[in-house]
Amino acid sequence: MSAANTKAGLEGVIAGSTDICSVEQGALIYRGYEIDDLARNATFEGVAFLLLVGHKPSAVELKAFDSELKANRALPKEVCDFLKITPPMLKSGSAVPMDILRTAVSMLGNLDPQCQDNSPEAERAKAKRLTAQIPTVIGHMQNALEGKAAVAPDASLSHAANLLWMMTGVKPTAKAARVMDVSLILYAEHDYNASTFSARVICATLSDLHSAVTGAIGALKGPLHGGANEAAMDMLKEITVAHKAGTSVEDWMLQAFADKRKLMGFGHRVYKNGDHRAGILHALGRELAEQKGPEWVELFDLGERVQKIMLDDKQIHPNVDFPCGMTYFTMDIPVPQYTPIFVASRITGWAAHVMEQHAHNRLIRPVSEYTGPALSGWNS
Ligand code: SDX
Repeated sequence: MSAANTKAGLEGVIAGSTDICSVEQGALIYRGYEIDDLARNATFEGVAFLLLVGHKPSAVELKAFDSELKANRALPKEVCDFLKITPPMLKSGSAVPMDILRTAVSMLGNLDPQCQDNSPEAERAKAKRLTAQIPTVIGHMQNALEGKAAVAPDASLSHAANLLWMMTGVKPTAKAARVMDVSLILYAEHDYNASTFSARVICATLSDLHSAVTGAIGALKGPLHGGANEAAMDMLKEITVAHKAGTSVEDWMLQAFADKRKLMGFGHRVYKNGDHRAGILHALGRELAEQKGPEWVELFDLGERVQKIMLDDKQIHPNVDFPCGMTYFTMDIPVPQYTPIFVASRITGWAAHVMEQHAHNRLIRPVSEYTGPALSGWNS
């Protein structure tokens, strides 16, 4: 295999096909529906059904699906007990919330009677349970970290509203719930991204859904992937502190360019003319900020200055993680829970790809180009 055939990071390599999603320069499509249409007209529950079942739900189907998710929000006692002992791990820094979520999902597999069953029916049932339970893991983890009793799921609330309720113990406004709902729609699916491809590689060995999702969480954690939404907010905080100490945004950016820093929330392996999701979430987040007050509007003003410099100087656009950081910060969501919330959405895309891979499976095993030492004798 010559170097000419290899592409660093598999850039531009078509590694398989999928009926689930198309990521194009001009559009992002989930099973035939364009992302802007879904963001305006669907709910996360409707998009989750579309991804997991394969078609747009009828009103009756959606109602039944919603009831099934609500009925499965509670966690097994063993997982609740685990989450209660996590604050020292989180406070010491030995674990971050993505690590705790990864362990909790793995435990949910240990406790799921269908864990070893890769049939389509069992995998769809397991996917629905994980979709329902992951927000509860996030909520109970945050409650424990704040020294509070676990906030029980509220069946009167939508998926997005219940996630916010369990994390904060406060019923969200309709506006905040809708912004969270749209962010979950935007994050749900994105064809062969690194975490989804990881899930496909794992399940292509005929391993199970929980193993594939556990691996995908590990992949999404990285700041080059899903972890960028937390890193983007941390970067904006850094710029704000520098600005208050007298360094202009422009000078901070010039120094970052000189240091060849990767600016979090910018760039994309596929999108070269901008991420369709970024503008949608930015607009919603800015509306929230304008409702909340000048301090939050200033954050979006700063973000827009950073975006303009990146575009003017580097021709690099923001991806969905940049507006996500500012939006979730405006919603008072703790920064380390941003990527776990990404998981609460992307579980639907991952599970759809696992089911598609198992339905038409072939082991995923590429070859490599050897660049190691020439042959020599062990006793020579
Ligand atoms: C997600 O794949 C998906 O679909 C992922 C995702 C999904 O929904 O699943 O969309 C979610 O992961 C979005 C991406 C989140 N990651 C970040 O925001 C991290 C910062 N971004 C970069 O690290 C980068 O843009 C990547 C990793 C996203 C893509 O990197 P590539 O395709 O490997 O491009 P590259 O690193 O080779 O960069 C090409 C050039 C380089 O310049 P040169 O060295 O050639 O001069 O562009 C520059 C890079 O330095 N560049 C950046 C940059 N991104 C690219 N320079 C500064 N800051 C950046 N963010």
